[in-house]
Amino acid sequence: MKKFSGKKVCAAVFISGRGSNLKSLINFSKTKISPIKIEIVFSNNKSAFGLKFAKEKKIEIIHLNEKNFNILEQKLAKILNERKIELICLAGFMKILSNSFIKKFNGKIINIHPSLLPKYKGLNTHRRVIENKEDYTGCTVHFVNSKLDSGKIILQKKIKIFKKDNEKTLAQRVLTEEHKIYPKAIIRLFS
Ligand code: GRF
Repeated sequence: MKKFSGKKVCAAVFISGRGSNLKSLINFSKTKISPIKIEIVFSNNKSAFGLKFAKEKKIEIIHLNEKNFNILEQKLAKILNERKIELICLAGFMKILSNSFIKKFNGKIINIHPSLLPKYKGLNTHRRVIENKEDYTGCTVHFVNSKLDSGKIILQKKIKIFKKDNEKTLAQRVLTEEHKIYPKAIIRLFS
């Protein structure tokens, strides 16, 4: 990415649910040190809780009523191009993007995942980490490529797992770190 010179790049965030990372990204994007401004929030789920915060902050929300996901992606790509979106941040986006969409925005899509990738790709990471009696877990911000949770890593944060941790407490502790690491990873991308 081009080095941040003070002129913010247009970004979009894709979500499907709660949107706590979206909230942290929106708050970050309003600061002077942020290289991005969030122009668009896209959700495949029009009742995603996270959309409330985007609405409050008067950020445009895109929801496309289209059952065929390929057609939906084509419509979405057109909007993103028209709006000169240069970074797409996935934040709890539960749909798998097609290879052709990923190719169109090659190197411009990033994601946050609640594990120390390449370990624990996919869902239910905290449960699996505890079942396997791991000592450490964490979160990862990475580029999106055609393989699930496999693109180049931008930044990771490692945390210790305590004996008293369960799936819920671990998820909460990792999430707190996610909210810090996603903005940091974006700063790194533009430095
Ligand atoms: C986060 O744990 C993120 O790492 C994962 O999905 C969850 C989304 O949470 N990809 P939220 O919607 O940002 O609160």
